[in-house]
Amino acid sequence: MTQHLTLRRPDDMHLHLRDDALLRGVLPETTRHFARALVMPNLVPPVVTFADAQAYHARILAALPDGTDFQPLMTLYLTEATSPDDVAAAAAAGLVKAVKLYPAGATTNSASGVKDFTKVQPVLERMAQIGLPLCLHGEVTDPIVDIFDREAVFIDRILAPLRARNPGLRVVMEHITTEEGVAYVRAAGPDLAATITTHHLILNRNHILAGGIRPHYYCLPIAKREKHRLALRAAATSGEAHFFLGTDSAPHVDALKEHACGCAGCFTATTTMPLLAQIFEDDAALPRLEAFTSLNGAGFYRLPANQGTLTLTRHDTPQAFPAKILTEAGPVTVFDPGFPVHWHVTS
Ligand code: NCD
Ligand code: ZN
Repeated sequence: MTQHLTLRRPDDMHLHLRDDALLRGVLPETTRHFARALVMPNLVPPVVTFADAQAYHARILAALPDGTDFQPLMTLYLTEATSPDDVAAAAAAGLVKAVKLYPAGATTNSASGVKDFTKVQPVLERMAQIGLPLCLHGEVTDPIVDIFDREAVFIDRILAPLRARNPGLRVVMEHITTEEGVAYVRAAGPDLAATITTHHLILNRNHILAGGIRPHYYCLPIAKREKHRLALRAAATSGEAHFFLGTDSAPHVDALKEHACGCAGCFTATTTMPLLAQIFEDDAALPRLEAFTSLNGAGFYRLPANQGTLTLTRHDTPQAFPAKILTEAGPVTVFDPGFPVHWHVTS
């Protein structure tokens, strides 16, 4: 029996598009299904200023496939030298929708991130005044803290004090991976939200490490124990307005993933919508998929919901997806969920 599901076109509220050859290779994988995406600024060098964001925005538009009305929503990479006036000008122009804070050293290309939070306090105050959201990579970088504890410790040590110092600051905890993250968001008011990735709804740490090391499942924050995955599933499928999709689709060419010191990132852009339909069906939550992918993120970012639609069709036979996409920079492995997926985007 075939079944159809029509949603408003989705938004990906956390995406890595990279630059140059990799940008050209991965961009169609997102524009095929998504109307908008919040584009992360962790290029080398990072997208720090309004001028940097304008230039990157133009490069993305130039790489768009013909006939798409996809809209990249730009972000700025917060450094200790970021100017509050520059951030305010970028937001007033409507180009920049958020500022991203990476603790220095937390993840891929985060060397220019924040070490001393007092240095960014004037920018945070201005953002609170103008209502511009702060997107946080919520992991501490203290080498003493175990990698599996870095998110929970971040909430206590950094996030709670930062929010107390900045009443009214609108914050998105990016790619939450723990039950502590879910609980913290649920207990907070309307100024706090969280993105959840596709892969963190699927993976626990055994998938990465048991029976052989799976470099394509290695991402940051790293997938945690099964109880955390289940907490994320419950949050994503709840329909609650403060949880929404940010795939964190993070392409790296295979040579850099299958490596003695492999890069962090799962590439999920190609298959996210079919995977989410399968996940929401399995959790008896299909009527709430649209809230997660197409309404809640737009609501938090104060954007109108998309007008167009996306239709998914369920087939009795599982659908086949490409194992890799080929880019001019090299092959990129598409995330393999490890279970049959019956859903396919049909229009
Ligand atoms: C991201 C990347 O590759 O840029 N990697 C990842 O594992 N998620 C960076 C990030 O969002 O942490
Ligand atoms: Zn990311």
